[in-house]
Amino acid sequence: MAKITAITTNMFPTLALLATLLFLSPSPSNAQYKPPLYVFGDSLYDDGMTLYNGVKGAGAEFWPYGETYFKKPSGRYSDGRLIPDFVAQFAGLPFLQPYLLPGIKDFTRGINFASAGACVLVELRPQTINLKRQVDYFVQMVQKLKQQVGEGTANQLLSEAVYLFNIAGNDYVNLLQKNVKKLPVSNFKRNQRINMVIGNLTTHIKTIYDQGGRKFAFQNLGPLGCMPSMKYMLNFKGTCAPEPQELAKLHNAKFAALAKRLQSQLPGFKYSIYDFYTSLYLRVIYGSSRYGFRESQTACCGSGSYNGDFTCQKKGYTFSVCSNPSEYLWFDAAHPTDKANQAFSKEFWSGGSSLVAPYNLQQLFAAK
Ligand SMILES: *[C@@H]1O[C@H](CO)[C@@H](O)[C@H](O)[C@H]1NC(C)=O
Repeated sequence: MAKITAITTNMFPTLALLATLLFLSPSPSNAQYKPPLYVFGDSLYDDGMTLYNGVKGAGAEFWPYGETYFKKPSGRYSDGRLIPDFVAQFAGLPFLQPYLLPGIKDFTRGINFASAGACVLVELRPQTINLKRQVDYFVQMVQKLKQQVGEGTANQLLSEAVYLFNIAGNDYVNLLQKNVKKLPVSNFKRNQRINMVIGNLTTHIKTIYDQGGRKFAFQNLGPLGCMPSMKYMLNFKGTCAPEPQELAKLHNAKFAALAKRLQSQLPGFKYSIYDFYTSLYLRVIYGSSRYGFRESQTACCGSGSYNGDFTCQKKGYTFSVCSNPSEYLWFDAAHPTDKANQAFSKEFWSGGSSLVAPYNLQQLFAAK
């Protein structure tokens, strides 16, 4: 009896203190959360999603992937980190978990939906996790987030979150691949592809907006013609093949116009476009003299001209791997090194308006 009384009297001050803390502290979403980061895209942003998709040989699962930073393959197509990894770090967030990783319980810091090979157009590569499937997963995740923290806090997190995209490169690589024997691609086919890609992108961005998303960040298409894999495919000898360059530029111009239009149509819609095209192009051209990449055309890992034959990590193929990836711009035939991704991420995060506009990522994260 005496013992029970003692416990009861001890509990009252604790409860009172707890109640005071609950009522006096600001709303929990302000106090305990940073704006989350939700990521969509292809292999440039895939941090392991593809490994859980059940398609054998589709992900970066063998040496030398991951050798520089993680010291083992992590599903990332690089020797180390990708742009979303650096962005998460700059934003004070942990590395994001890929959505299909079993057992995820926390959706408040962000999630990565990006997957290797992904296209915007669903019919192009049926075995990959295309953008539509990624956005479907996101809508499913919103329900899980609401179960985790309640509707009010979830809605606040969704509106403060940054939605980071790198997508559509594969839609154009696919167009060139299919027409490789009859280049140049006709104007009709070119415009048809661009219009369909932009049309579907519009739909997906609006779906995320309808779920409460407001802050969008886009990496524009890189100079596709400078990729070692593209030069190998087209049997092009030189710095950058002109036709893929033209396609990327046309897409980027149309996409910039779309983002502007969405900003005027959708209240509260804010965005950032990082000019990855120019940034990567300048590094290909002036890699050694200005940017510290001794080799900016041949990939560290692969075979064939420019190491552009995508044999890196492939069992049963002979490929070579460089001994110092930090001197290389390209780790494999289509993906930059950890060192290059770090440089891009710094520009995306805090670069001036000639590189990233109308906001840079730092401003976008801070925006209310
Ligand atoms: C989306 O892409 C499909 C092909 O996958 C196309 O038929 C459709 O017209 C596109 N939608 C828009 C709105 O452009």
